[in-house]
Amino acid sequence: MHNEFDLDKINLASAPPTEEPARQYYFMAKARKLVGELCKKAGRPMTACGITFGCQMNAKDSEKLLGILERIGFTVIEDESADFVFYNTCTVRDNANQRVYGRLGFVHSMKKKHPDKRVALCGCMMQEPSVIEKIKKSYSFVDLIFGTHNIYKFAELLVTMYDSDRMVIDIWENADQIVEDLPAQRKYSFKSGVNIMYGCNNFCSYCIVPYVRGRERSRNPRDIIREIEQLAAEGVVEVMLLGQNVNSYGKNLEEPISFAQLLREVEKIEGIERIRFMTSHPKDLSDELIAVMKQSSKICRHLHLPLQSGSTRILEAMNRRYTKEQYLALANKIRREIPDIALTTDIIVGFPGETAADIEETIDVVREVAYDNAFTFIYSPRTGTPAAAMPNPTSDEEIRAGFDRLLKVVQETAKSRVGRLQGEVHRVLVEEINEHDDTLVTGRLSNNTLVHFPGDASLIGKLVPVKLTQAQGFYYIGEMV
Ligand code: 5AD
Ligand code: SF4
Repeated sequence: MHNEFDLDKINLASAPPTEEPARQYYFMAKARKLVGELCKKAGRPMTACGITFGCQMNAKDSEKLLGILERIGFTVIEDESADFVFYNTCTVRDNANQRVYGRLGFVHSMKKKHPDKRVALCGCMMQEPSVIEKIKKSYSFVDLIFGTHNIYKFAELLVTMYDSDRMVIDIWENADQIVEDLPAQRKYSFKSGVNIMYGCNNFCSYCIVPYVRGRERSRNPRDIIREIEQLAAEGVVEVMLLGQNVNSYGKNLEEPISFAQLLREVEKIEGIERIRFMTSHPKDLSDELIAVMKQSSKICRHLHLPLQSGSTRILEAMNRRYTKEQYLALANKIRREIPDIALTTDIIVGFPGETAADIEETIDVVREVAYDNAFTFIYSPRTGTPAAAMPNPTSDEEIRAGFDRLLKVVQETAKSRVGRLQGEVHRVLVEEINEHDDTLVTGRLSNNTLVHFPGDASLIGKLVPVKLTQAQGFYYIGEMV
């Protein structure tokens, strides 16, 4: 896709184009010249490293940033001693922010020894004005700060940064356009995330995402299909369609289209064997989607359906717009229609005003739905969200006790649920050599469960039949058949 623009043919003596993405390719050519000079001066390649916090969206954004860094001549490494380091931040809970400040302390000590090192910060945390103030005051060694709406301008920002001896800050409150056709470096050769929409309009009362990622914007379906066709041509067999709320995809496009219709189109693309998506909001999950999933041989047997709370009272305060009963009815309908599906969820414990009785309601739902996995979080107040202003009389000890009670049930139900396929043969997409034992490879079932089995690197990226010989809590040990 990005080969349309040949950096060698760009005339740097002329003024930069105003239209995108041509403008960014102009700055990539300029940055490449700059990086070439730095390499010459140092007598070695210039290295770059990206550290990513948070969700799949951020992982995808980092691939775009790394793609640009590679295109302009950096050698990408996984080590913060690199000549250029960026931190792509998350702010969904406060501990994500604290981890970034920790990394900054560490990288500062490196920069003191190597003053030519450049450090950039980007991502969700940077969309918060109080964070920018803190960095300006306490981390003044940072060279570049940008947000979530202008990552497509990374090449231009890099040129500005190398031309400046002061901190460069470029934060936009809103996104003005969706820029297509920029390079990306993919972490895996055989699977890829694909953005289908950006932002969120739901305003759950605890959540900072709508403030840092802006209003919901869907990509044009033709651009999405074109990107996936290109990925398939490059050998990708699994795509993960990404959006904060994929079930409302396409509603605001000039020619509206539903998420289920988009899935039908993706299904037709030859070479794509597996389709995943993330994240679904229960209030928008349609019967049409369930029907498409049921008929499909490519859409994976996994649905992540965040519950957040099982108490209708708390759900209302969270502005989730469904009740406990509505959620249960939906989960039961999905299970009825697609019996082999794995359901996973997110749950928050300690929302303002939540009592032990509310937690029991949540535990009730966990027992009834029997999730394959549930991610449980302690509520973290986020500045500017409605919930941050709600009084919370519950003590930390009570919250912790409720969290532990819930976690125990989650683990018990998940264990019995995950193990149900023992003895059967299923296709596994092999992802990597096992981290702890290099005689094993690790892959995933359609339903997202991990499987470890004897094999070597030649299997990576392949879909192979594996007998699931032994269920081990959250994963299987198997053997290829
Ligand atoms: N505190 C705790 N957890 C949160 N999440 C979102 N905002 C908060 C918050 N303020 C959780 C939700 C969401 C997941 C990505 O993070 O469960 O689904
Ligand atoms: Fe992802 Fe939300 Fe964290 Fe941003 S704040 S990285 S959108 S989880």
